[in-house]
Amino acid sequence: MALRSTLRRDLLPAGFLLLSLTVSFAQEPAPTPKAQAEVGVKQDVPAPPKSYPPELVQKGAALFRQDCSFCHGRNAGGGETGPDLTRSKLVTDDVDGDKIGPVVRNGRPDKGMPRFDLSDDQIAGLIAFIHTQQTTALTKIGGRKGVDASDLQTGNVEAGKQYFNGAGGCATCHSPSGDLSGIASRHQGLDLEKQMLYPKHAKSKVTVTLASGQTVAGTLEYLDEFTVGLVDSTGSYRSWRTRDVKFKIDSPVDAHVALFDKYTDDDIHNLMAYLQTLH
Ligand code: HEC
Ligand code: HEC
Repeated sequence: MALRSTLRRDLLPAGFLLLSLTVSFAQEPAPTPKAQAEVGVKQDVPAPPKSYPPELVQKGAALFRQDCSFCHGRNAGGGETGPDLTRSKLVTDDVDGDKIGPVVRNGRPDKGMPRFDLSDDQIAGLIAFIHTQQTTALTKIGGRKGVDASDLQTGNVEAGKQYFNGAGGCATCHSPSGDLSGIASRHQGLDLEKQMLYPKHAKSKVTVTLASGQTVAGTLEYLDEFTVGLVDSTGSYRSWRTRDVKFKIDSPVDAHVALFDKYTDDDIHNLMAYLQTLH
């Protein structure tokens, strides 16, 4: 926590500075007169209005490492496939999850951000962790960032194949000689890793129930916190305000999100090695 305040100012806009101080020193003792002079020195910072209990941050950290770190990096500092959340304006603007919550629950399926079905408590933990990381990132303790490009060649093909057919359950939906035949030719390197972790182009089905009780089913084309849009059986695009309708989404690719809780780094490396043999 001993980063100089000048450096902080150089790196980040003022609003960010305020927020990160507020969050990170949540558990520090009350200020001393010296505090104002040496912002950024441990234990010498004014008491913040908002504090996150350490247990909550810890729970959030564990969940983040399971579900989010592949893409956003272990410490939320960004990975190859997801943006740096510690520098995200959305995160900076977030108050008690009002911005982060909807992104996590709805995802941005068309942009590579899956949606997560998590409880309010789980989301609260993630939010506490992400905000806390905004400051930790500044200390540059940093850490591993997802899976690096240079890591992609380090896996064991045979172990990957075993995981694919066994513990990973991949074979229940995929076949190396069927849908995944030639996958290594269609996608290379990080692009292949992205497809494996969270296949972008996968389509979900959605059934929308209108206020009248009528239902419309189709392929989900658009979803955010305000709008749900689909392409119906005639090929027409239709959309509604989410608050005017009810809708139910069926996406087999959610299995990939569930896998985030199971993979170890080694599993991912081994799977990558194996998939890269499927030309
Ligand atoms: C498969 C990769 C992937 C996973 C897993 C993932 N994300 Fe994301 N996330 C992304 C991508 C890609 C974006 C950027 C989407 C865009 O460009 O709009 C994003 C965007 C976000 C944003 C918005 C950032 C901004 O500035 O707009 C937040 C917040 C976020 N993710 C949180 C999470 C959390 C929390 C988790 C775990 C529960 C998670 N993500 C899991 C890929 C991922
Ligand atoms: C419950 C079913 C299910 C399971 C289990 C599953 N997947 Fe998938 N996977 C999908 C669906 C659905 C898609 C999207 C297919 C599409 O693009 O239409 C997909 C897409 C993919 C793709 C991208 C294919 C392409 O052509 O772009 C890869 C790679 C992949 N999965 C690998 C895996 C691996 C590795 C595992 C195991 C660790 C796994 N999947 C487990 C359902 C599953």
